[in-house]
Amino acid sequence: MKKLVFLFLFLLSLLFFLNNNNKAPFRPLDLLPFLPPAISLPLLQSLHSAVDLLPSFVGSVASAENKLQWKGACFSQNQAWLEFHNQSQTKFGGGTLHIKVNKAHSWTCMDLYVFATPYQITWDYYFISREHTLNFKQWVNQKEYEFVKHNGVSIFLMQSGMLGTLKAMWDVFPLFSNSGWGESSNLAFLKKHMGATFEDRPEPWVSELNPDDIHSGDFLAISKIKGRWGGFETLEKWVTGAYAGHTAVCLKDSDGKLWVGESGHENEEGEDIIVVMPWEEWWQFEQTQDDSDPHIALLPLHPDMRKKFNETAAWEYAKSMSGYPYGYHNMIFSWIDTLSDNYPPPLDAHVVASVMTMWSHIQPAYAANMWNEALNKRLNTTGLDLPDVIVESERRGISFEKLLTIPEKDDWVYSDGKSTSCVVFILEMYKVAGLFDPIASSMQATEFTIKDAYSLNFFENNMTRLPDWCNKNDSVKMPYCQILGKYRMELPDYNTMQPYPHMNEKCASLPPDYLRDDYC
Ligand SMILES: *[C@@H]1O[C@H](CO)[C@@H](O)[C@H](O)[C@H]1NC(C)=O
Ligand SMILES: *[C@@H]1O[C@H](CO)[C@@H](O)[C@H](O)[C@H]1NC(C)=O
Ligand SMILES: *[C@@H]1O[C@H](CO)[C@@H](O)[C@H](O)[C@H]1NC(C)=O
Ligand SMILES: *[C@@H]1O[C@H](CO)[C@@H](O)[C@H](O)[C@H]1NC(C)=O
Ligand SMILES: *[C@@H]1O[C@H](CO)[C@@H](O)[C@H](O)[C@H]1NC(C)=O
Repeated sequence: MKKLVFLFLFLLSLLFFLNNNNKAPFRPLDLLPFLPPAISLPLLQSLHSAVDLLPSFVGSVASAENKLQWKGACFSQNQAWLEFHNQSQTKFGGGTLHIKVNKAHSWTCMDLYVFATPYQITWDYYFISREHTLNFKQWVNQKEYEFVKHNGVSIFLMQSGMLGTLKAMWDVFPLFSNSGWGESSNLAFLKKHMGATFEDRPEPWVSELNPDDIHSGDFLAISKIKGRWGGFETLEKWVTGAYAGHTAVCLKDSDGKLWVGESGHENEEGEDIIVVMPWEEWWQFEQTQDDSDPHIALLPLHPDMRKKFNETAAWEYAKSMSGYPYGYHNMIFSWIDTLSDNYPPPLDAHVVASVMTMWSHIQPAYAANMWNEALNKRLNTTGLDLPDVIVESERRGISFEKLLTIPEKDDWVYSDGKSTSCVVFILEMYKVAGLFDPIASSMQATEFTIKDAYSLNFFENNMTRLPDWCNKNDSVKMPYCQILGKYRMELPDYNTMQPYPHMNEKCASLPPDYLRDDYC
């Protein structure tokens, strides 16, 4: 999941330079950027094919010596170079990007650019012929510093009609601004956009739990609220309507020892993979090393479900998946089910395509991995890159929006194995363990979000059967056991939905209510 953080850094930072005194002809289309996004974007889309709307990669600059030159949409003579500096007096210093734009075709036109490294993204637009500068105060870490030295800062020319969309993303900005990786901006965003409450709960904030009371199949709902993970989860929650951003599952072995299965555990190389690890190790890590201020709730299976749960089959599945990479391929597809009812504004399919395009230039290896294979599978093609996918899809009369809504199939195998995100890993386990019987064959686990998972009516519904250490000292009684965190975790619609065939394959979900149709 971590690499996706950087995708969403797309929403980072904005600077304004307004000026305007160039003598050249007037073109009505140049006014697009000044219309409200709700008008400019549809207009833009009707004037161009989807491929023309994608950001175009202009090049990258890594030094002051090798100047990059290109022709823009508005300015026909442009130049950029990068100067490293250490104004911030930090370990890796920062850099200034110089951009000289010249020869505008009209006095109302502008060029809109996005500048990106894998770690930060910013954007700017230019009206006037002169030299502009863009300051990267400091490189985030050694990796970014090395990346920029070798590969440079990537520059993308955007359709100027995208201006409104980029501006609207300003709202999401504090989640990622460096000083605001803090908890308070995440909480404020979730309160404002989802109506979350985050009430304080009494101590103990770490349960003195007894692992003997935890059983195979029990679900761990995790919510991270600080740091990069926190920022990413906040966006994911907002988009999907889930009140948790990560999940794991408990498993007991034949000796009664407790283990945790988790897709998206960071290994020593910094890769996110699927692991099955001893409970003690996992619990220790969450309490002492996870700097995202994780909040964790244990959702015990209902006793009838526990009886149904085939431990042997679950273990076989977990072992077969252990060590595989986290499911980047399909995670985005689990929330895009309907053409327009899954994108909170200002997001839309076009923004998704733009992010994918930019990502494929900044980190080509990841991009192929993350989207291209999944999109090819939807078209029954192999090896097409993103623009080709869009062209092929339009040729068949399928819009890109429509392509994104085609459901993922659980039996699709990617070049690096089956793709399972944190919650898909658990639901597939539930599937092989028999919890979805007798309709398991008509369920696609990859269509479930975290919210869909904890909404299933698989969990304990009798509070007197919860262990005695559960929510100890809290006067507000919750139907699950929060075991970590100072704010009370809320999971609206917890334990309410009976599974049905093709569940969640066509569901709308839009903030702030995330209302879904019955049997979607
Ligand atoms: C920037 O300055 C700081 C403090 O003087 C120093 O520790 C650091 O090594 C410098 N960084 C670079 C990249 O020169
Ligand atoms: C129970 O909650 C109260 C009020 O927050 C606190 O003072 C007390 O220490 C808590 N008891 C335990 C055992 O943590
Ligand atoms: C549980 O799963 C195993 C392995 O898939 C299978 O051999 C066994 O028959 C299953 N048990 C039941 C009760 O279905
Ligand atoms: C995909 O292509 C293969 C080989 O050309 C064909 O056998 C299969 O029926 C196609 N599937 C779909 C869903 O179009
Ligand atoms: C809840 O569980 C308790 C203890 O097992 C039992 O006595 C009680 O009847 C249960 N309540 C309901 C509504 O099932």
